[in-house]
Amino acid sequence: MVGKITRAYEREVKEGDVKMASPKFGMSILFFFLCISFCSSTDQSFQQCFSSHLPPSNITYDVIFTQNSSQYSSILQSSIRNLRFSNASKPRYLVTPYNEDHIQATIICSKEHHMHVRVRSGGHDYEGLSYISDVPFIVIDLFHIRSVMVDIKNEYAWVGAGATLGELYYSISAKSNVHGFPAGSCPTVGVGGHISGGGFGTIFRKYGLAADNVIDAKMIDVNGNVLDRKSMGEDLFWAIRGGGGASFGVIFSWKLKLVRVPLTVTVFKTVKSLEQGATKLVQKWQNIAYKFHHDLFVHAVIQVTNPNSNQNPTVQVSFDCLFLGTTERLLSSIQRSFPELGVTQENCTEMSWIQSVLYFAGYSIAESADVLLNRTTQSTQSFKGKSDYVKEAIPKTGLEGLFKMVVEEETSVLILTPYGGRMKQIKSSATPFPYRSEYLYGIQYMISWDVAEETGKRIGWMRRLYKYMEPYVSTAPRAAYFNYRDLDLGRNSYPNTSYVESSEWGLKYFNHNFNRLVRVKTLADPHNFFWNEQSIPVLRLE
Ligand code: FDA
Repeated sequence: MVGKITRAYEREVKEGDVKMASPKFGMSILFFFLCISFCSSTDQSFQQCFSSHLPPSNITYDVIFTQNSSQYSSILQSSIRNLRFSNASKPRYLVTPYNEDHIQATIICSKEHHMHVRVRSGGHDYEGLSYISDVPFIVIDLFHIRSVMVDIKNEYAWVGAGATLGELYYSISAKSNVHGFPAGSCPTVGVGGHISGGGFGTIFRKYGLAADNVIDAKMIDVNGNVLDRKSMGEDLFWAIRGGGGASFGVIFSWKLKLVRVPLTVTVFKTVKSLEQGATKLVQKWQNIAYKFHHDLFVHAVIQVTNPNSNQNPTVQVSFDCLFLGTTERLLSSIQRSFPELGVTQENCTEMSWIQSVLYFAGYSIAESADVLLNRTTQSTQSFKGKSDYVKEAIPKTGLEGLFKMVVEEETSVLILTPYGGRMKQIKSSATPFPYRSEYLYGIQYMISWDVAEETGKRIGWMRRLYKYMEPYVSTAPRAAYFNYRDLDLGRNSYPNTSYVESSEWGLKYFNHNFNRLVRVKTLADPHNFFWNEQSIPVLRLE
């Protein structure tokens, strides 16, 4: 089999844009329109199929919602984070499983009924790929699959893929004040998408990515089999820890290694405008933040200040810190390495790790940790995000040009996240996430708006900014973070997808790990059932 895959891979590269294995369920758009007139009989037939694949004791009636169901809209909208997609094409059915059997039956019946499947955990995909599609589709929304079982004695947790990061952090902190988990800062992000795409947060310089701390997983594959680490094998287990779960199956739950956090952590925030010397501080930050002790995380957030006042808008940079230790230890480190920031005892606040989670999520630390259980996003904005990685500090002139562009758009935000620490120690092939030792920091570019008419202008600005940054960021490939999904980088054709076409975006996200992902996908899902606009392609075997 390995020889076959190698030959197929060589052939695809040689043939250039020769088309690849197409999804076997490929239903034409014409068929879809004809199908509309038979809607209700199809609905019945799908539901019958679904029930027929369940043991009688497991048949429940609130799992499948058709477009006529009264709850359809509220369930669909419940975790749409990016309003840019709230009026996009809607799924034929919403399936809200309670257990593995429901997911197995959905996969089998979707294949029988020639429907695509999209899987949604927290709904934060930047391009909405968990709930929109241009071809007839079903959304499996995992919001019922969110139990969190924490075992402090053995320092692990099993978490359902539909749980949010907030639910995970809350459950850990309810059992221990000296354990945590290294994942992202936004509590409504789902663990299904986040961990399968990498997942970094304020303690990743100490412990690596969320995906680096997965010790087992349960997944339902294209044949409806429930696999764990042992039965899926190390290649597939490797692929779903950073390569995106959606290409390979439906992740049901993760077994996570809990990490130790001190009783007391410290935060500070120092904000400087350009007029107060922010450019010089960013210049220095670029050269030192990745070398800080792994207990110290200081990211830089660039945005516009005074946008609505009488004063001219300008740029401000906020240096936000989490330190895994006391103020005393933090000050002795930061005052030595970054005295220009002028951090003093008064800027620092000591708190517990779970309070730091609230703090970075934008809550007051006086709030109860219960707020982390709130899953509803209630987003009222559209947004576009992009990402880059930096290997060499951007010179002063480059930063000045960048700030000039930032000031043009008052809702733009750039987050510069320092690498180094534990990220530097992990091999770039250990998981599909490749950007480890050579990188100083990652950049997230973000712009948001609330009036639909502004979409073109805002996205146009984002693309100009991305072009401007080209000389200053990584090249060959220009690196990007998979969890900051960006369809500008390229998209798979439907129904045929070529390796060469997918390499456009695949190498940017996964670099040298892309080819291994392609090999794993070819074995795990040879007929490309789990296709999406940026799913890993399948090699055409002879
Ligand atoms: P969603 O449900 O939209 O899924 C995203 C992708 O994963 C889709 O392709 C989906 O099909 C697939 N998927 C989801 N569940 C699956 C499952 N169970 N099995 C198989 N495939 C599945 N990132 C980061 O690293 N650090 C951070 O701090 C943040 N912060 C942040 C804040 C906000 C406001 C947003 C909108 C996003 C972030 N992110 C982030 C990015 C985030 O990690 C990324 O969008 C994740 O993919 C979101 O996962 P969800 O499950 O919420 O999304």
